[in-house]
Amino acid sequence: MPSCEPDFGIYVHWPFCKAKCPYCDFNSHVRHEPVDALSFADALARELAWFGAKTKGRKVDSIFFGGGTPSLMPPEAVGRVLDCIGKLWTLSPDAEVTLEANPTSVEARNFAGYRAAGVNRVSIGVQALADQDLKALGRQHSVAEALAAFRLAARTFPRVSFDLIYARPGQTVAQWRDELSRALAEQQGHMSLYQLTIEEGTRFADLHRAGKLIVPDEAVAAELYDVTQELTAAAGLQAYEVSNHALPGHESRHNLIYWRYGDYAGAGPGAHSRITAGSRRLALATERHPETWRAHVLARGHGMIEETPIETADQAAEYLLMGLRIAEGIDLARYRSLSGRAPSHLAELSEMGLVCVRGDRLVATHAGRRVLNAVIAQLAA
Ligand SMILES: C[S@@+](CC[C@H](N)C(=O)[O-])C[C@H]1O[C@@H](n2cnc3c(N)ncnc32)[C@H](O)[C@@H]1O
Ligand code: SF4
Repeated sequence: MPSCEPDFGIYVHWPFCKAKCPYCDFNSHVRHEPVDALSFADALARELAWFGAKTKGRKVDSIFFGGGTPSLMPPEAVGRVLDCIGKLWTLSPDAEVTLEANPTSVEARNFAGYRAAGVNRVSIGVQALADQDLKALGRQHSVAEALAAFRLAARTFPRVSFDLIYARPGQTVAQWRDELSRALAEQQGHMSLYQLTIEEGTRFADLHRAGKLIVPDEAVAAELYDVTQELTAAAGLQAYEVSNHALPGHESRHNLIYWRYGDYAGAGPGAHSRITAGSRRLALATERHPETWRAHVLARGHGMIEETPIETADQAAEYLLMGLRIAEGIDLARYRSLSGRAPSHLAELSEMGLVCVRGDRLVATHAGRRVLNAVIAQLAA
């Protein structure tokens, strides 16, 4: 019988990359000395034990190795972490176990080992289907290498996601139409299609500020977004989230936990968690610097630098921010019970065709998703 308990997930952060991509502001670090992967895996296991004590009795529905580049982890390190999770919690029989992979030929050699360790889903960062664009994005793989890795992953794992970045410098609507069509011919039921964001503190941000990197303007970006919706829908992939498209049943169970504002424990440098403890909801975060994080874990069993109860009004704001990204939207009763009131400007936003109320759920329409931040700001005002 399916359980009615909300899904619970575990996020494991692997903070190392071969090279830093110039657009990326994730907690990723390049090391010129070999990384002692097993010592990091052991530290992850210790921090997970700390979370185990805080979340006793919970059933784990999803595990996600994110990064950084988890496909640089030796399969033995992934196996150690998964064994530890299996000892600390009961795993749901259909638990999703995802690992983010960069598609170089070296990393593809690890795929069979990950599968043997228990990984059943990979998310492959193909990012572009043009070699010169991959170079401009600072990627360490060619298109041919990425496609070979993707096809190998599709043969190795029950589920794979094909991930691309669009609205790249100089990209035209016609080029994206062609590129996305080629990607759609390869995909296996799930695609993450992110618009390039210029993040503060990255090399792209410096170049952008200096006028040396021109990205598509708002009107072109909106057209690129519309083409994305049109082509994925025509292929039967539903936009179950702003940037995520899947055949029915192929949605990422893990990411749905975030968007449904469920509980998850995040282990590893710079990982975040949301955990319900009694009547309180806690926000936790760990030290970002990998070696400092490991030293904290060795000294005190965890790398936490933040453990704060979240006020119910803030929970309502977070729920809105997450929930309106997904096609199923938010449960208005849950929102009211957290915030003590209904969302603001509901009638105006509905009249403008930006949101729609279906029973006791509120969803953003296609037009609303294009201006989602503004819609959320109005609802939360
Ligand atoms: C941080 S990466 C980690 C996985 C893996 N290292 C990779 O590069 O695919 C996760 C996803 O975030 C995307 N991403 C990172 N920075 C981004 C940005 N500035 N704009 C859009 N997508 C971005 C990546 O392209 C990737 O699909
Ligand atoms: S995009 Fe991926 S590979 Fe590139 S620096 Fe960020 S985490 Fe590393």
